[in-house]
Amino acid sequence: MKISAQDLIESKREGRKLASLTAYDYPTARLLDEAGLDLILVGDSLGMVVLGYPDTTMVRMEDMLHHTRAVARGVTRTWVVTDLPAGSIPTAEAAAENARRLVEAGADAVKIEGGHECVRIVEAIRQADIPVVGHLGMLPQRVREEGGYRIKGRSEAEADRILTDSLALERAGVCAIVLELIHPPVAVEISRSLKIPTIGIGSGPDCDGQILVVHDVVGMFPWFRPSFAKVRADVAGEIRRAAAEFVEATRRGSG
Ligand code: KIV
Repeated sequence: MKISAQDLIESKREGRKLASLTAYDYPTARLLDEAGLDLILVGDSLGMVVLGYPDTTMVRMEDMLHHTRAVARGVTRTWVVTDLPAGSIPTAEAAAENARRLVEAGADAVKIEGGHECVRIVEAIRQADIPVVGHLGMLPQRVREEGGYRIKGRSEAEADRILTDSLALERAGVCAIVLELIHPPVAVEISRSLKIPTIGIGSGPDCDGQILVVHDVVGMFPWFRPSFAKVRADVAGEIRRAAAEFVEATRRGSG
């Protein structure tokens, strides 16, 4: 049976950590589903690790719909959350309509980046009965305005702002919040202050769950790896080895 938004909140109450990875295609989603993850994110990180863009800002709704359909075909029990990409939430009404399209494509929930400025948007999506996951800290869709990726919440003022935003999102009805690159003591304080689970990425080990980009975990994107991601396999190395072996065998006439 499929995990629900309520199950995530129950997990936090029971002290069971949530394990989450991204997926963008059918075979990866199917393998992750079989591996027993709680949540699969069809992240707009697909812009970098699948489509070859420099960041997530060029990813469009059509990309997210296409990859959500592929992931949904591979999943039987894991909760599928899809990012609403840059430019897809200009108004609360447009956000609700785009969230509805993603659910139609197979998402169980949508994720949006931002704090208090997204409250109306979260409420509109919730009114359409679609679960919403928040995303605070480093917001990749704003990386160009920010001039790069950096840890958030080191200053007291910034930490207070993120905590206030997390409480505003919880009140608006999100069922979990991704905390990206947040100074770990601040991530702990946010996790203690909320009833809904926090899912950390580069925010220390003490969030209510962890999420990583699958390519980073399996060593599938060797040209860049964030320092906080432990690489647990060498898929890129295996592809290079198998492809080189095939080239060699073909040229020998035994391929
Ligand atoms: O797009 C993505 O993969 C994400 C994760 C980094 C949380 O938002």
